[in-house]
Amino acid sequence: MSEFVVMGYPIAHSLSPRIHHAFGRLVGKEVTYERQEVAAGTLAQALAAFVAAGGRGANITVPLKAEACALADRLSGRARRAMAVNTILWEHGLMVGDNTDGVGFIRDLVVNQGLSLRDRTVLLVGAGGAAQGIAGPLLDEGVARLVIVNRTPARATQLVASLADDRAYAGLLSEQGEPFDFVINATAAGLAGAVPALPGIVFQGAVAYDLVYGARADGFLSCARLGGAKLAVDGLGMLVEQAAESFWLWHGMRPPVAPVLQALRADI
Ligand code: ATR
Repeated sequence: MSEFVVMGYPIAHSLSPRIHHAFGRLVGKEVTYERQEVAAGTLAQALAAFVAAGGRGANITVPLKAEACALADRLSGRARRAMAVNTILWEHGLMVGDNTDGVGFIRDLVVNQGLSLRDRTVLLVGAGGAAQGIAGPLLDEGVARLVIVNRTPARATQLVASLADDRAYAGLLSEQGEPFDFVINATAAGLAGAVPALPGIVFQGAVAYDLVYGARADGFLSCARLGGAKLAVDGLGMLVEQAAESFWLWHGMRPPVAPVLQALRADI
């Protein structure tokens, strides 16, 4: 029985155990971490069984992040804002839900890629859970303008309204007529081998970032390069950074990210 777990569905390909074991080795701490397949609607039972068996921390992934948010006894500010939980810890018997996705995304851009978002224009593509998790953190970084577009425009309008920030606007996917400094794909299109229908002009000179990694990001990143993006990055760094933040919450130690990211990059 492991003390740490990642729960989701499907879960077989999750890199989280590999990342947390590597962090453990690097900081000299034995970490036991495993995957557990948990179907939507059954998270409460799975978590109760896990904690009863001595579990200490859980990562929660697709499609359970909103369910975890509803189950937690207490939420961190960033989980409340994202309305999603990807990290659970237990404090004095209470289930505490946090969200490390937003900080992982920002750290990958700012620390690993050495980029600044301050006074930049950002086009955020998608208005689902993933987009919701990073919209607030993008505004916190001091962007000049955040335009959110989505296949279903009403969801973009709703997300903008929830942000209540006059730098955030909802736009139409196919009607963007100018380049942006950053174009971020937060849609699930890549999972189906599809690419959001954006005009090429948005990528001219831009940094393009896809929140997913590996082959699922290829379509969007190829479009970005064709459109003249100066940099096209997948979300592997975000994955490792969000894991590092979870590791910090559970173990009180900051693991080195670069060697783990390098090893994964060589393999995917
Ligand atoms: P997640 O938690 O991954 O964000 P989600 O909340 O289901 O999952 O949101 C999926 C996002 O990807 C939505 O913005 C969705 O657009 P719709 O709101 O129109 O459904 C977007 N998406 C999924 N498939 C897409 C596709 N083929 N082209 C463009 N956008 C797509």
